[in-house]
Amino acid sequence: MLVSVESKFPKKAKECFVVFAGLSAKDKLKSFCTCDETKALITKYFKKGAFKAEHGETLMLRGAEKDGFENVLLVGMGLNKKVNLESLRVAVAKAYRALRSEKQKHAGFCLDSLSGYKFKNQELGYVITESVELTNYKYTDYLSEPNHHQVSVTLAAAKASDRNQIAKGIEEGVATSSGINFARSVSDAPSNIMNPEKLAKETQKAAKGTKLKVTVWDKPRIKKEKMGSLLGVAAGSAADPRVIIMEYNGAPKSKKPIAFVGKGLTFDTGGISIKPSGGMEAMKYDMCGGANVIGTMLAIAKLGLKVNITAYVGAVENMPDGEAIKPGDILTARNGKTIEVTNTDAEGRLVMADLLVYASEKKPASIFSIATLTGAIIVALGHLHTGLFTEDDKLNDKIQKAADSAGEDLWRMPLLDAHKKQMISHYADICNMGTPSRAAGSAQAAGFLSEFIGNEVPYAHFDIASQMSDMGSIYPYCPDRGACGAMIRTFIEFSKKA
Ligand code: BES
Ligand code: MN
Ligand code: ZN
Repeated sequence: MLVSVESKFPKKAKECFVVFAGLSAKDKLKSFCTCDETKALITKYFKKGAFKAEHGETLMLRGAEKDGFENVLLVGMGLNKKVNLESLRVAVAKAYRALRSEKQKHAGFCLDSLSGYKFKNQELGYVITESVELTNYKYTDYLSEPNHHQVSVTLAAAKASDRNQIAKGIEEGVATSSGINFARSVSDAPSNIMNPEKLAKETQKAAKGTKLKVTVWDKPRIKKEKMGSLLGVAAGSAADPRVIIMEYNGAPKSKKPIAFVGKGLTFDTGGISIKPSGGMEAMKYDMCGGANVIGTMLAIAKLGLKVNITAYVGAVENMPDGEAIKPGDILTARNGKTIEVTNTDAEGRLVMADLLVYASEKKPASIFSIATLTGAIIVALGHLHTGLFTEDDKLNDKIQKAADSAGEDLWRMPLLDAHKKQMISHYADICNMGTPSRAAGSAQAAGFLSEFIGNEVPYAHFDIASQMSDMGSIYPYCPDRGACGAMIRTFIEFSKKA
């Protein structure tokens, strides 16, 4: 654990004093520090023009400029009226990155300098811890010399009641960040190691000692459950598929659960409709939807939220082999719907179709699916947003609110009957690729998925292909290289209010 709260800074934390300062208006410094010495220091560098207090800006001051501390790191908060939990998360991430590159081992964060922003003590503990733990994340499993420099952070609070609240927040931040970092690490692991069987085992291991019930279906069981669409994708791989089911009951049984469905393609070659080789290594991240569902469940269990949730992850590898499905093949999904596979690279929707049917049968309160589903969402949105598809305006409002408080970026995309109609096949009930054109490919994919929702369950689909990995330049608490854990915080926030 990297963050702790103390009644005063211990000796080790005196390596670096981290102080935040913002602006009341453009070029107007406003620091909330009550300590004159710190205030004078910030003003001095602001006047010199070396520190502008812009959001996320950092300035490392080496030398004993502040009494008792070796170094001081100034961190910009930007315009005060724009400060919120997410901007604090970003500022802390930038601070942590600076501490790391400056090879500091310990730092003391000046909470006094954040006192004017009206954050609750618990929120401070939560966001600082979450940001530090997320920024610290590095996948080192296969490095002979991991070279992972870590910085421990101390928050000091003189008052016992403040300390208790901050400690509560720290616990919360540990819960969310450990769920997110779990999702990242299984996604970052190479596919020759992290195959469906291994993902299921890692999930069971991580859930030990929590209130989560994990059930894993092997291939014979999946066959028994008539999941012919999922099995079609698995046919070309030597690695057998798994369906991972996680149940969390934090509320009375009478309360309908939320259902999360995740795409867990441990690798997507495209199958017989094989992908071009350039950049194909990124397709180990095609399991991010599934991994993020698992991470969400781990976090929610640790937080002990008063909610019921069931999660379904389809863990499959998409490979071209003698037994692989071919374009034109027809699969039968669990609900009896026949699917003409016009492109074996549109496999995520095939895997998820059966799980959506199964989840619908249980009549949950709502179903969320999350998947690195389409390259088309990147064309539509770039990397600034995850694509949200839902026909339910009320659900959309709730999700947008959850994303806002989580500090994640969603963009609602159209999902119309017209998109569903573009998935018509001459030979089967539906086909898995838009015909005659693939235009609006993400909406077509979402339309395909929605055809497998039964019992009129409210449904929302998250296409995270645009935000699955390498998001450090947009979210500094995400890795520059590696999986990010998109939408886990949003799912947690949604679950808090469900
Ligand atoms: N896993 C891919 C989508 C993807 C692409 C994710 C790039 C992340 C980055 C998905 O299985 C896929 O291949 N989709 C096809 C669908 C098409 C064949 C209808 C696509 O988007 O091109
Ligand atoms: Mn594919
Ligand atoms: Zn895929």
